Amino acid sequence: MHIPVMLNEVIKSIKIIPNGTYIDATFGCGGHSRCILSKLNEKGKLIVIDRDPKSIEFACSIKDRRLIPIHGNFSKILKYSIKYKIFGKVQGILFDLGLSFSQIKDSNRGFSFMHDGPLDMRMNNLHGISAKEWINNANIKDISFVIKEFGEEKFYKKISNVICKYRKIKNINTTKELVNLINKACGYFYKKKHPARRSFQAIRIYINNELQELKLALNDIIKIISPKGRIVFISFHSLEDRIIKKFIINNSRKKIYPYKLPILESKIKNDNIYKLKYFKKIQPSKKEILYNKKSRSAILRFAEKLKYD
Ligand SMILES: C[S@@+](CC[C@H](N)C(=O)[O-])C[C@H]1O[C@@H](n2cnc3c(N)ncnc32)[C@H](O)[C@@H]1O
Repeated sequence: MHIPVMLNEVIKSIKIIPNGTYIDATFGCGGHSRCILSKLNEKGKLIVIDRDPKSIEFACSIKDRRLIPIHGNFSKILKYSIKYKIFGKVQGILFDLGLSFSQIKDSNRGFSFMHDGPLDMRMNNLHGISAKEWINNANIKDISFVIKEFGEEKFYKKISNVICKYRKIKNINTTKELVNLINKACGYFYKKKHPARRSFQAIRIYINNELQELKLALNDIIKIISPKGRIVFISFHSLEDRIIKKFIINNSRKKIYPYKLPILESKIKNDNIYKLKYFKKIQPSKKEILYNKKSRSAILRFAEKLKYD
């Protein structure tokens, strides 16, 4: 069963107004959405986005006229906000990044190094290239780069060498085959954590273009929310958290102009219109980690849009 991560903290930080408009940009199994809906009155609205067709199929099965499901990438959030006439009127947006419970546990999706299945790893398995296609065709430099950069894996050279040697003889088709190769390359060095953890994370991030998706969404979200609106992020690894932290910090500062440069007051106001108030990061409690081990690496960051006046 999917347990939404830091549910109480999300609800508190997104600060629900009962007749407000909210976006859950990562619907998943709908854990957070269900709770947000329960806090809205009949005038409230919840737009939910997910790139996974199964997740949105599930959202569509929920009969609630306040809920608007969108199958697509959250990098298109600006386009969706215009289409649904909520641009500048959203009181809160939630990004709960990473994979949902149903994606991880379904061995046919190929996300898990714990279960054998086809090496796919696409969140939207109707589009794009699968991990299998990529790993059997990419050059060694690209494989090394992905495992090093997106997995922060120090044995990236060993792993990519073993992969490229093996595929000269036979294609890598399954998660188990890939896990065995990674074990062969560096299993000896990993005593506590699974040797394939970082490489699987890296390949998944690459296949789904996850960091770029996040950066594109960040370009637009401040414009979409209303003054006093909140943006809440839950991330599960340092690459995403760094991007989020940088985004919040950069947008929390007022623009500073060179001394004595003649600038119109209207320009200063305009430049400072989309600013954020930054709150302290939150991590799951010991109690939560005990009953939901998957929450242990989660970091929640949130910010509020201020209006210059
Ligand atoms: C951790 S799960 C969300 C779980 C959800 N909060 C819940 O409580 O059930 C993340 C979801 O985000 C989706 N997702 C990840 N990146 C996305 C993107 N760029 N655009 C749209 N959906 C995305 C995944 O398909 C997955 O279903």
